[in-house]
Amino acid sequence: MQYGYFDLEHKEYVITRPDTPAPWANYLGSPEYGAIVSNNGGGYSFVKSGANGRIIRYRFNSNIGLPGRYIYIRDNDAKDYWSCTWQPVGKPLDQYKTECHHGTAYTTIKSDYADIHSELTYYVPLNKTYEVWRTKITNNSDRYRNLSTFGFVEFTNENNYEQDQVNLQYTLFITRTSFEGNKIVQHINENSGKDENGSNWRERFFGVVGAPVSAYNGNLDSFIGSYRTYGNPVAVERGFCDNKLNYNSNACGALQSDIILAPGETKEIIYVVGQKNPKVADEILAAYNEPGKVDAEVKELIAYWHGQLNNFQIETPSDEFNNMVNVWNAYQCFITFIWSRAASFIYCGLRNGYGYRDTVQDIQGIIHINPELAAEKIRFMISAQVDNGGGLPLVKFDHKAGHETCPDENDENSIYAKETGHPCYRADDALWLFPTVNKYIGESGNKAFLDEVIVYANGGEDTVYEHLKRAINFSMERLGAHTMPAGLYADWNDCLRLGKKGESTFVAFQLYYAMSIIKGYALDRGDNEYAAYIDKVQPELGKSLEACWDEDRFIRGYRENGEIVGAKKDPEASMWLNPQSWSVISGFASDKQAETAMEKVHEILNTPFGVKIMEPPYVDHYFDGALMHIFNPDTKENGGIFSQTQGWAILAESLLGHGDRAFEYFLESSPANMNDKAEVRILEPYVHGQFTESTRSPYAGRSHVHWLTGTGSTVMVGCVEGICGMRPNAEGLVISPSIPHTWDGFKIEKNFRGKHLSIDIQNPDHVQSGVKSMTVNGEAVEGNFVCECKMTEQTNIVVVLG
Ligand code: GLC
Repeated sequence: MQYGYFDLEHKEYVITRPDTPAPWANYLGSPEYGAIVSNNGGGYSFVKSGANGRIIRYRFNSNIGLPGRYIYIRDNDAKDYWSCTWQPVGKPLDQYKTECHHGTAYTTIKSDYADIHSELTYYVPLNKTYEVWRTKITNNSDRYRNLSTFGFVEFTNENNYEQDQVNLQYTLFITRTSFEGNKIVQHINENSGKDENGSNWRERFFGVVGAPVSAYNGNLDSFIGSYRTYGNPVAVERGFCDNKLNYNSNACGALQSDIILAPGETKEIIYVVGQKNPKVADEILAAYNEPGKVDAEVKELIAYWHGQLNNFQIETPSDEFNNMVNVWNAYQCFITFIWSRAASFIYCGLRNGYGYRDTVQDIQGIIHINPELAAEKIRFMISAQVDNGGGLPLVKFDHKAGHETCPDENDENSIYAKETGHPCYRADDALWLFPTVNKYIGESGNKAFLDEVIVYANGGEDTVYEHLKRAINFSMERLGAHTMPAGLYADWNDCLRLGKKGESTFVAFQLYYAMSIIKGYALDRGDNEYAAYIDKVQPELGKSLEACWDEDRFIRGYRENGEIVGAKKDPEASMWLNPQSWSVISGFASDKQAETAMEKVHEILNTPFGVKIMEPPYVDHYFDGALMHIFNPDTKENGGIFSQTQGWAILAESLLGHGDRAFEYFLESSPANMNDKAEVRILEPYVHGQFTESTRSPYAGRSHVHWLTGTGSTVMVGCVEGICGMRPNAEGLVISPSIPHTWDGFKIEKNFRGKHLSIDIQNPDHVQSGVKSMTVNGEAVEGNFVCECKMTEQTNIVVVLG
């Protein structure tokens, strides 16, 4: 079933049926003022922290009766009412017509009912810390209409969402509301001292511009009424708010305006929500009296976001690929880059920091679009590397570079562990820096980045180059019995505990790859001593990895007791995806190993919805450290289709030149490809989730944990670097596409180091990869490398595959 379509031109996803199988969300603002909004107006907002700055209430684990940002309309003659979003009133869909346009940082919902048209836009103005809901209501009938509008928001009583939800004997008694002209003000802890910085005192407001307030409510129960829901608030049903405010009860903001609309007349009403004192609120509200302000602000948002996305645009024969690479995967990458795993309909915002590996990976997803924005965050993440070379497992939002406490390898109850809940270092964290830094240098050409001096998390400083050396050292100082990096607390797979001294082939491949990257830097800088060191240790590591080859696959690793995980003969978990894809990405696998291992991946792990993380799932033969066995088979890390790993499979197949296979994996796992199977996928068809249930589940194909997942970046890299073949290095751009043989070609528009590249890739022989010839600005060039020195302001590149 299909509920909407991609509008590539406007960079929107348009939902034409509002009864989507789950709330389909969009992100507005930033964590400074974050708002998540569903296609039916559901969702919540927060200031700075999803968990500790929640201002609009949301009920997790519920798909029904969710609070949100609602505007009700009542026809006072017909005594009928509805809402500008289909929910919460939920009029019959044969009478209520609606379209939701999720765009880049705004959502517009257009609805028609009883000859009244409403167009509601939600957004957070660029770099502002409040939100706007603008509705335009039009009378499409030929008679005057006597209407009332009711803007409604349900405030939390406490900024800490948990306190607000469960500690009612406290939170009910700290808040009251007042009505001040055109706004409801909510006061929280107002007796604890009116000092915004030092006390728990807070003020929020819900105000309206464009229509006078005829009545209001600040008391939730007075507005909704007993034994009622958001779908039939008593105030709306009877046609008036009773001006009751809350005091020792739940707060809300409800503002009623009575309007008469002539035939064809449109009225614009603007609601604003924020956590500001009344004086600031008044200034904000007053500004919206200026005609055209909302349109200008939305235009500014669009210009900003489209400007970002237009740094890399493609035109291929696949709509799914175009929509994801040009718009939605890219936008998701920005959201994960900015929001990390902060807040969604699944994450409540409790993780008050950046996961080291998560963020260093997330950065990769935007490098091809905005390398300098990426660089800022790389610097930040390097400042969260400890001087022993390891990464802090969790980098606090208020990270104090140079002054941080660190995990204690001999004490799982260290101060750091208590503060963050992360007992120890993980084997992989700092190793993610290598591909990320390398991609940044490739995109920007900024080799001097390696000489930038950055502090360590716990003090001291070094150049980026030395930081990277220490990351290598961290692994080398912690080798296990098979001379591979020790498992420590975990590797990429949080659910796989090989034991402190266990060993992970995944991490070993990462280290092998890191060594190749740093050797390149060492040679470039004339650090021959270090290059010689790598020349000695890398083959040794290679030897250990060679021993991990088990006929037609690489094993997953060794447990501390020496037992192999992922041996071919194992009754369960005998085939794992990541060691195979990473054997290729790392450059370690021989041609034969690469071909064999990836073929086995296809044979054993592939499903109609993507590639499973491993097979068979753990049911009867798990060991204690195989934590994933607690998940139902074919779910999450226990044999589910873990979405993040799809990107690596796509990349590995692309690197092997297998365009058909790379694209097959893209398509199977792509949300866009499930657009007409929404009843199967459930999740938004325009964003990746963390995983998809695999074939043993009765709900095979259903995806979970929307938006905030590392999938954004890995799939983006798989598509851009892999399938599109954009492989920049410090000197220029290697172009090495790996595409379906059926494609006649495709086009890329790319901004690169201040210049614009128009790349026309032609595939007359219908091959999957391989560059036969290339011209740059009409001049024939050997091979598939375009030196930066050949690039002009507008560079036209023609690549012929064959
Ligand atoms: C989740 C975690 C990520 C981890 C992955 C696999 O996505 O956020 O850190 O690598 O699961 O376990």
